[in-house]
Amino acid sequence: MCAVVYFSSVSENTHRFVAKLGMHSFRIPLRPADEALRMHEPYVLIVPTYGGGALRHAVPKQVIRFLNDPHNRELMRGVISSGNTNFGSAFCTAGPIISRKCGVPDLARFELLGTKADVDKIRQKIRLNLEGVSQ
Ligand SMILES: Cc1cc2nc3c(=O)[nH]c(=O)nc-3n(C[C@H](O)[C@H](O)[C@H](O)COP(=O)(O)O)c2cc1C
Repeated sequence: MCAVVYFSSVSENTHRFVAKLGMHSFRIPLRPADEALRMHEPYVLIVPTYGGGALRHAVPKQVIRFLNDPHNRELMRGVISSGNTNFGSAFCTAGPIISRKCGVPDLARFELLGTKADVDKIRQKIRLNLEGVSQ
């Protein structure tokens, strides 16, 4: 079973992208008062970039909280980031930051809701990464 963990704000672009993948998915809670997510199986993380170009705010604080749990970090097999190309060189910077800090592969990037080609390519990458299945 391929699992995806993702964060999505109230604009829900990432939520809609993940729905199109049709995979087993878990959403990182939005509000601090919500119960924290704890994973029990390997997963690929999908994260939108925030911070408006400022690298130190690129990873949403909810995602930092999730990754501060060593158990969650241990089960992460790769990261995929999203963003908006209007941010220029700050496009999708959350992915490389998490990849470097947590030592997992930076698998892919997509913009906003992603295209059909993004959905197909990223579904393949997740399967290959988690199960070694190429189609
Ligand atoms: C306040 C704000 C800051 C953002 N900063 C960046 C950024 O630095 N780099 C980037 O590529 N996209 C940036 N984005 C675009 C978001 O990553 C993009 O809209 C994403 O699809 C949001 O996903 P969500 O709707 O699931 O939360 C920003 C968006 C907002 C609203």
